[in-house]
Amino acid sequence: IDIKTLRGATGGVTTIDPGYKNTGSCESAITFLDGEKGILRYRGYSIEELAEKADFLEVCYLLIFGNLPTATELEKFDKDIKEESHVDEDMKKILDGFPKSAHPMGVLSSLTSALIAFNPGSVDVDSEEEMYNAIVKILAKFPVLAAWTMRKRKSLPLDYGDSSLGYVENLHKMMFARPNKTYEANKIVNDALDKLLILHADHEQNCSTSTVRIVGSSHAGLFASLSAGISALWGPLHGGANQAVIEMLEAIKEDGGDTAKYINKAKDKEDSFRLMGFGHRVYKNFDPRAKIIKKSAEEVLGNLGIEDPVLDIAKGLSEVALKDEYFVQRKLYPNVDFYSGIIYRALGIPTEMFTVMFALGRLPGWIAQWREMRLRKEPIGRPRQIYIGENHRDFKEISER
Ligand code: ACO
Repeated sequence: IDIKTLRGATGGVTTIDPGYKNTGSCESAITFLDGEKGILRYRGYSIEELAEKADFLEVCYLLIFGNLPTATELEKFDKDIKEESHVDEDMKKILDGFPKSAHPMGVLSSLTSALIAFNPGSVDVDSEEEMYNAIVKILAKFPVLAAWTMRKRKSLPLDYGDSSLGYVENLHKMMFARPNKTYEANKIVNDALDKLLILHADHEQNCSTSTVRIVGSSHAGLFASLSAGISALWGPLHGGANQAVIEMLEAIKEDGGDTAKYINKAKDKEDSFRLMGFGHRVYKNFDPRAKIIKKSAEEVLGNLGIEDPVLDIAKGLSEVALKDEYFVQRKLYPNVDFYSGIIYRALGIPTEMFTVMFALGRLPGWIAQWREMRLRKEPIGRPRQIYIGENHRDFKEISER
């Protein structure tokens, strides 16, 4: 059946699939994943190879435009991004209006939306050239906004980037440069950050990406779609899990390190507690990103000479859970975010910034999916429902209710 005429061909039948567990929402050539075999590929390249050999900017280009860039293409892409890195000074006033305690994800989503007012030409984009201009703008400005959300919480001056640095090193400098102190780049830190961003860069139709596509399908514009995606990512069942994992591991440590107690809590159906960082909608064997990240966490901590007891708790917890019938039966394995927080912590990134780091990584994926959706001229997203409410009722005046 031609997919476009499916509804007509089935006589107008509406299927119901809560959580869209079995529903494909689009055709896509960006990311392939096989949840049973634990395979993840961006544009045909395995995640293992990309994490090992590529840098984040190359992966951005690959996801968005479909191929690994040549040296000339990468140089132009990098230059175009650098030329767009200025953020209007009035954006700082908007940031000023937030309390210092505001969660960085809420601030980031608002600032991304506010960018539209300062870049009106980035909204109504139709041609590939207009799309390209909007894409380099957001790739350039997003790390500035992300760094500002962190600096605001620490009452540090809001700086701009350093165009002599690469994308990831520049992000790190914008986050960590301190007044009257010379910033010193650290290769171990930079490489770890690069790898984490690559591992988070796309994951087909997850909650935030589907949000970006569905908002974009109304032609609301790239920045508005991304702002919605950031809000979707914030939730603890999605990107917010990385913050929740470290908070859970710390709570277990404070509570004497009794991992069995928390495993039992997670199994108890009367208790709403879930083992954060465990389980995945699609991976029912293992999450290939978790494997890479676990190894990376050990390397980074070793190389930086950090001993983090939380890493031991994480290892202990996963060893017990992986042998437990409850987790085995339900195919619950550690996901990408079970270990990412441990690395972020070792890099000195505050816990409430973890999901912002995820958003920085996911940005090219969201952009690639938005661009694909627009270029394919997909129709507006508009699911149906099965109505279960009251049938027709006669209106009663307030005195009669
Ligand atoms: N701890 C304990 N039990 C769990 C967990 C968990 N982390 N995850 C799933 N289960 C159980 C459910 O209670 C359910 O049990 P039941 O069949 O006895 O009712 C069964 O496993 C299936 O779980 P669902 O919630 O139906 O699976 P779904 O695919 O809808 O959810 C999700 C996937 C949201 C990731 C879930 O596993 C979860 O909440 N994990 C913890 C949060 C987390 O780590 N999120 C990050 C996901 S990765 C990412 O977004 C980058």
